[in-house]
Parts: sequence; structure tokens; C-alpha cells
Amino acid sequence: MRSGGVGQATWEWADWTNAADRNTANDLSRTVVSSVSDNATVLLIGASRGLGYAIAAEYLDRGSRVVATVRSPGRTALHELQDTAGGRLEIEHVDINVPEQVQALGDRLGARRFDLLFVNAGVTNGPDETTANVTTEEFTRLMVTNALSPMRVIEALAEFIDPSGTIAIMSSGQGSIANNERGGFEIYRASKSALNQLMRSYAARHRDDSRTLLLMAPGWVKTELGGPGARLTVSESIPNLVTTIDAQRGRSGLHFLDYLGQTVAW
Ligand SMILES: NC(=O)c1ccc[n+]([C@@H]2O[C@H](COP(=O)([O-])OP(=O)(O)OC[C@H]3O[C@@H](n4cnc5c(N)ncnc54)[C@H](OP(=O)(O)O)[C@@H]3O)[C@@H](O)[C@H]2O)c1
Repeated sequence: MRSGGVGQATWEWADWTNAADRNTANDLSRTVVSSVSDNATVLLIGASRGLGYAIAAEYLDRGSRVVATVRSPGRTALHELQDTAGGRLEIEHVDINVPEQVQALGDRLGARRFDLLFVNAGVTNGPDETTANVTTEEFTRLMVTNALSPMRVIEALAEFIDPSGTIAIMSSGQGSIANNERGGFEIYRASKSALNQLMRSYAARHRDDSRTLLLMAPGWVKTELGGPGARLTVSESIPNLVTTIDAQRGRSGLHFLDYLGQTVAW
């Protein structure tokens, strides 16, 4: 089994995903190119770099129109992508931890409608930090950014999503309580578990909603957050993840899925 480490921490590939994913991770022949995204409209939160940037690029490749957000005023990789997107990529600004900015984004969207809202923004912390030594400030930063703020975005922007559309949040295999047998990343794990629980409550509160609700686990991917020792490249994860999202369209209820479309244990 593969393992990686940051500082003194080690973790196993197993923690980032589920058993079915591990069994099939090397079988990328399962990749199916979907055409569902042709002409689809996507609202993507947190796309300056990493997985969010790759999701924007993938939807553009599939013919979608994308409104994607960054939080800083400066130029990002997403702006480079916009230069080659033929007018199909608009860049908006929002810090998901500032409710006034989320509300202002909604005001700017006006009467627009989208097929997909995907909240990708998230942060991590030191993998060795535990409840024995994490500061209250750091714990709060993780919980607010990874659990509360994505849900606030959903609460504020769900009205812009078509009744047959999809509302998705980037979770993590690390958010699975059932699969946590090795520990590590305690605070990050807890924040993604809290996100999952909040999304389940949201789904229960909207049980008659026809829209598809998704919590996605992208696998352990080489980004700033995932680190250079991660198991997957972005191009091994994201095209499959987008295909998985598209394949769920029209399937109401909440689903916790990995990038290969396998159900992740809660
Ligand atoms: N990489 C992995 O192995 C892995 C595995 C499982 C789950 N995930 C999840 O996938 C998502 C993306 O991760 P990544 O690997 O692409 O990380 P990344 O490269 O560090 O990118 C994180 C993205 O989130 C944005 N962001 C962070 N805080 C924000 C805030 N308060 N408001 C708005 N945007 C904010 C960042 O914007 P700035 O550029 O402004 O900082 C950046 O665009 C996260 O939710 C992460 O937990 C990643």
C-alpha cells in the first residue's frame, strides 16, 4: 500500500478514498467521456488554482459556459484560462468566509440560472495537529472554511440552480467516519465530516427538491493542498470526477461519491 508524509505524519492512500476506488485507481480505462456538459452552465466557487481550476478547464473543454470565482483581486491561473476560453468563462470574486461577499455575488448574478453549482473552495492544516495541540483559532478556521462557509454558499446560491440541476460540494475521502481507521489529519477530517453532516441535514430539509445533491471525494491529488506525494495527478482525477457529476444528473437525493463514481461510506 502506498503511503506519504508531511513532517512526521504518515498517512495511507486508503484514508483518502474507499476500497472500490483503490481497486480501480489504476484502471483508468473506466473513463467515459460524457457529453452532458455540452452547453451546460456551471457556477464554480473557488477556482483560482488546483482542483477548482482543473474543473473549470474540464467543463470548458466539454463545451460548457462557466462562471468561476477567485477571492483575491490579482491575476490567477484562471485568468490565463479565460484568455483562451472564447468568452465562455466569466470570473467573479468571493471569499466564502465573508457572508456579505456571498450575498453580493448572488445580487450580481441577478436572474441567471445554472445547471450546476459546485463549491470547491477548501483549506487544510498541519497533518500532525490533533485536539491535544490545535489552537482554537486554527480549529475554527478549518471548520468555518470547510464546513460552515460551503453550506452558506449553498443556502445563498441554490436559488440560481435549475430544478433539474445539481448542487455539489467538494468533500474528501478523509471526511468518511467509517473509513477512518488510521487517524491523522484529525482536524481536516473533522471539518469534512462536519460538512457531510451539514449537507445531510440540508438534504433532509429539502427532501422534496428535485435537484441532485453531491458530496465529492476527488482522491488524493497532487495540488498545493494534496502535496507532491499524492497518489493521483489532477488529470487522473478531475475528468473522471466531472464525468461522475454529469452521470448523476436527474438523480435526486444526496450522494457521497468518489471521482470514479463509487459510493463512499459515510
Ligand atoms: N488535493 C487533494 O488531494 C484533495 C483531496 C480531497 C479533497 N480535496 C478538496 O478539494 C478542494 C480543492 O483542493 P485543492 O487540492 O485544489 O487545494 P488548493 O490547491 O489549495 O486550492 C484551494 C482553492 O480553494 C480556494 N479557497 C480557499 N479558501 C477560500 C475562501 N475562504 N474563499 C474562497 N476560496 C477559497 C483557494 O483560493 P486562493 O487561491 O485564493 O487561496 C483555491 O482556489 C478542497 O475543498 C479540498 O479540501 C482535495
